[in-house]
Amino acid sequence: MPNASKRTQSMPSSPIRKLAGYAVEAEKRGVHVHYLSIGQPDIAAPESFWNEVGGHSGPLSYTASQGIAPLRDAVAEDYRKRGIRLAATDLLVTVGASEATYFTFMTCFDEGDEVIVVEPFYANYLGFAHEAGVKLVPISTRIEDDFALPRASDIAAKITPRTKGILVCNPSNPTGTIYTVDQLMELAKITKQHNLFFVLDEVYRDFYFGTAKLMSGLEIEGLDENVVVLDSASKRFSLCGARVGFFISRNRDLIAGALKYGQARLSCPTLDQEGVVSAYRRTPQSYFNAVRTEYMARRDLIVELLSKIPGVVCPKIDGAFYALVRLPVDDADKFCEWMLTSFELNGETVQMAPASGFYATPGLGKDEVRIAYVLEKDKLTAAIRCIGAALAKYPGAVRTSVASI
Ligand SMILES: Cc1ncc(COP(=O)(O)O)c(C=O)c1O
Repeated sequence: MPNASKRTQSMPSSPIRKLAGYAVEAEKRGVHVHYLSIGQPDIAAPESFWNEVGGHSGPLSYTASQGIAPLRDAVAEDYRKRGIRLAATDLLVTVGASEATYFTFMTCFDEGDEVIVVEPFYANYLGFAHEAGVKLVPISTRIEDDFALPRASDIAAKITPRTKGILVCNPSNPTGTIYTVDQLMELAKITKQHNLFFVLDEVYRDFYFGTAKLMSGLEIEGLDENVVVLDSASKRFSLCGARVGFFISRNRDLIAGALKYGQARLSCPTLDQEGVVSAYRRTPQSYFNAVRTEYMARRDLIVELLSKIPGVVCPKIDGAFYALVRLPVDDADKFCEWMLTSFELNGETVQMAPASGFYATPGLGKDEVRIAYVLEKDKLTAAIRCIGAALAKYPGAVRTSVASI
């Protein structure tokens, strides 16, 4: 039998999905699993989407590779409403922000290039970097500092002749951290000075609980040629399955380059694009306000409940819908597996994402997990109760009597 390529053999698996098999087995045993592992919003998508996608007949055609014109128009107009200058030609529709990330790695970077990325980071960046032969150079942030960005001088110290970009997720998956205007401007200065690409993953921009300004990379003046923004309908409209995202840049060469990858996959899903046009054009502000209020309440709930469990450290969370939490365990990978294979509380258990896969630096995140608070509040309460009970029983628990933070 011929072997799969070496590239494939060394392609990292998703740390978010690797426990899925154990969860399936637990469900087969009749155990109810609370899924806190995947960042998939549970709130209903806007009716405007569902009203649009039905009632077709005849063949279902491809669309233009750059996406349908009404969708590009609607997205550009939405940015302009936020005070951000953007033309429809500054964006391509992609198969989720996932494909926009892939296009970014393929379009901006060559094999052997280095990209500085704030760690812990969205684990799938590792896979895209691997495909493109790019080395991710982590700049570590720590739970003790609420995952705040290190000083600009520390970041600049990571630059080598191979550095070609800086990648930031704002608001951050997995930490829920928000980067301030000043911090982004510092990074912008570094990218300008060193002629780098500045890639900002902004798929959680609607999930922001603070009052200070959340700045988009597209608002940084004088950096049109350097900035790429990744955006998506997945989280914004609870439309993860629509697979509609956006590659955005005012750099004409990047748009033209990324379009070549778009042409190779022909088109994005046609009906989903049409539905998302409707979601952009006809979703009232009240929808976004209600979603934000709900996630803020969930954030408050999990911070309160987790902080009561002895030895658990839950940092400040300002956005997205994740908490990166330290647990009093020897090895969070083992603990997450044990919860699915060997633990239940009244017929229930929890799946979480071990945090080690969100770090590129070996050894970091060993006692941390990512919790996605994408369940209703009573289910979240039951899930956190399970985690507390599991920690009290887990053979690898590091015992402490002090409740943290
Ligand atoms: C930070 C971040 N970027 C990109 C994506 C990809 O999103 P999608 O492809 O669904 O638009 C995700 C999904 O969870 C994410 O968390």
